[in-house]
Amino acid sequence: MAWVLDAEVESTPLSTTGGHTWEAARRLAAYLSAAAGELGLRRPGLRLLELGSGTGWLGANVARNMPEAALVVLTEQPDGLAHLRRNVALNSARGLPVGHVRVQSCDWRAYGPEAAAGSGGKQDSVAGCGSSAAGGSGDGPAAAEGKAAAAAAAGAAAAGVDPAAPAPALTSAEEQQKEELDLAAVPWDFIIGSDLIYNEIGSRCLPRVLAALARPQTQVLYCHTKHRFDLLDMEFLEQLEACGLCCEEVWEPGVPPPPQSPPLRFPPTDLFPEQRIAVYRITQRQQQPEQQMA
Ligand SMILES: C[S@@+](CC[C@H](N)C(=O)[O-])C[C@H]1O[C@@H](n2cnc3c(N)ncnc32)[C@H](O)[C@@H]1O
Repeated sequence: MAWVLDAEVESTPLSTTGGHTWEAARRLAAYLSAAAGELGLRRPGLRLLELGSGTGWLGANVARNMPEAALVVLTEQPDGLAHLRRNVALNSARGLPVGHVRVQSCDWRAYGPEAAAGSGGKQDSVAGCGSSAAGGSGDGPAAAEGKAAAAAAAGAAAAGVDPAAPAPALTSAEEQQKEELDLAAVPWDFIIGSDLIYNEIGSRCLPRVLAALARPQTQVLYCHTKHRFDLLDMEFLEQLEACGLCCEEVWEPGVPPPPQSPPLRFPPTDLFPEQRIAVYRITQRQQQPEQQMA
């Protein structure tokens, strides 16, 4: 059965770009609705995290269609949090089942690095990802893995956070701030996000956020407008690889596959490539046998 997308949000001018809902959010909602069974989104007790929630339209609609989820956490950078909280509260007041939604800060800049690990041209995400040997250069993988390990260790030590416990009902912003979860301590089933890459903070830090917060069983689904900023897209793909992550485009069951994009190259060979929205599944790269031995 198709999801009911009746969560409503208010738009507002914000410096964060999250003051209105972006098209990729609607595209990801459509994909999740169509693929809910295949993805396992109907299982009770799921834990879902959204990065860069903006208005909260996507997260609120996901949450209202997953009433049996244990926990749905919508996150934003500090400047966008009040607006996000307000929109979730509005839907709660309208009687939508969003009592399991929490809103809290997650600023990707906390995951560094100051300087990106650069490397030569890489292929577009769909090609050759699943079996590629470890790549990357510079401080990328080490920084990401170190961060992930540190975050996991910190999470294990975090007092009083029981990821299995059901989320409390919506409370005041102050109470929620006191109760902020250690995001790295939660075994997320899903991490989602839409239209998050429009500057170097996104292209450099987001892969590290994903490496730190996703576990092998976590399904990461990121919906992206391709060819809006090709150089950032390239850097994002490079940084994903440097973090040991793979990226492939996915689509709804039963519909024809979307057109392949040519591999991204530098310098761009096509000055005006057609923009289109793609849903990416991001996974941890399978280690080669010799890597596992090391
Ligand atoms: C283009 S908006 C997309 C919002 C929403 N996902 C959507 O599709 O409607 C990008 C979002 O990423 C968030 N963002 C940007 N930089 C961030 C950072 N360093 N940490 C956390 N969120 C960030 C912005 O605040 C904004 O909400």
